[in-house]
Amino acid sequence: MAGQRARPVSSGSGGVGGSAVPTANPGEMAATVTRVRDAVRRHSLRFERAIPLIASENLLSPYAKELLISDFHSRYAEGLPGERYYEGNEQVDEVEEICLALAKRLFRCSFADVRPTSGTVANMAVLKALTEPGDLVGTSRLADGAHISSASFGAFGLRGVKPVYYAWDAERMTIDVARTREILRAVRPKVCLFGLSLFLFPMPLDELRPTLEEIGARGWYDAAHVLGLIGGGEFQDPLHEGCTVMSASTHKTLPGPQHGILLGSMEDSEVVRRLQGGAFPGVTSNHHLNAMAALAVSLAEHIEFGREYARQTVANARALAQALHDRGFDVLAPNLGFTRSHTIAVRVEKEGGGERVAKRLADSGIISNKNLLPGDKSPKHPGGLRLGTPEVTRLGMREKEMERIAELFEDLLHRGKSEAEVARAAAELKSGFTTLKFCFGAGEAAYRYYDLVGREPS
Ligand SMILES: Cc1ncc(COP(=O)(O)O)c(C=O)c1O
Repeated sequence: MAGQRARPVSSGSGGVGGSAVPTANPGEMAATVTRVRDAVRRHSLRFERAIPLIASENLLSPYAKELLISDFHSRYAEGLPGERYYEGNEQVDEVEEICLALAKRLFRCSFADVRPTSGTVANMAVLKALTEPGDLVGTSRLADGAHISSASFGAFGLRGVKPVYYAWDAERMTIDVARTREILRAVRPKVCLFGLSLFLFPMPLDELRPTLEEIGARGWYDAAHVLGLIGGGEFQDPLHEGCTVMSASTHKTLPGPQHGILLGSMEDSEVVRRLQGGAFPGVTSNHHLNAMAALAVSLAEHIEFGREYARQTVANARALAQALHDRGFDVLAPNLGFTRSHTIAVRVEKEGGGERVAKRLADSGIISNKNLLPGDKSPKHPGGLRLGTPEVTRLGMREKEMERIAELFEDLLHRGKSEAEVARAAAELKSGFTTLKFCFGAGEAAYRYYDLVGREPS
């Protein structure tokens, strides 16, 4: 970074202008590379033995993964296909055109932009395109499950827009439509953002659409969590329920590379132009061409396998919720079937609170995250756990395995079994589910570490 100088690691000769550049002892940096590789290998082994229940994580198919280390990784392609600022982009253009066509086909829409490098970056592009500093933007509160993009210390704050919070129905874990209509009519935000990080039920888009039209607000849907479910036909379809634009990550329920996307069906070419300008040069320069190519593969695979994958992901979430509920866990929204997505929420105050329980589960080989739930007294002490089924479904687990996972929760948290005992049982269960499903090249090892050189550096 301009103006900053690295501190010398050990004494070395002065560089140009007398400034010292870092040097290392013989073998020190090669050993450091080995340490890094070793840590990543241990991580892969750990996950191979664990039950991964993070709602925002998934596994990449082998054909998509391969492209991450292709030469696309080394290149730039600023601009749009056919209108680049650099030479040498013909094959990049070809792949990006394929990626855009697949995205439009999967989400049945006329506009796509695959240049945002993550979900947050996609959100920033929308904010840049559709708002000005000082504008009012409708959204949900963090405590009701919204992403930090909506926070004053996140993308909203960066753009200088002011949140207008929807009323929340904690019983039904969704927006309270009647009270929110009143808020929207009174405050009249310019844009209304729908979408959550703790996303159990569809947003009431149809119900709120007339109010948005009445006040002239645009609908914006953040599908980071549910993109793969929408593509698989298992969740609501925001672009056909009145939203102008949908932003998303491409690596949660869509089992793609870590990247972002913008999608829309707008007639207005000025909005298209603003969204494209929001993506580049608004919030990206290089758009990670290797990930873009991997995304093309993941979109093709989702068109081929996504329906069945999405159906099983939701079925697994509902089965896990039911099995935990049957074992005395306080799973939210029991009267509504617990969830219609890949995610469930469990209040674990009587088991020790979100932080303690998530840590004990991790020590037992079950990876989840603590989560704030509506009604929590302090944001520092979340009373809940968020559990998701995208990754275990990708590995071929079904309802029967969800029962078994619930038993492991019971063993650890209600029956006093030790972390070590439960970790052994978790690894045994997992040993039958370590290869990828719902993709081309199914059957490949999901957690394989690709050793390209075949020896440690020296
Ligand atoms: C609703 C929502 N939007 C945006 C994001 C950000 O996505 P990314 O991590 O790809 O930046 C997340 C991440 O979890 C999310 O839950």
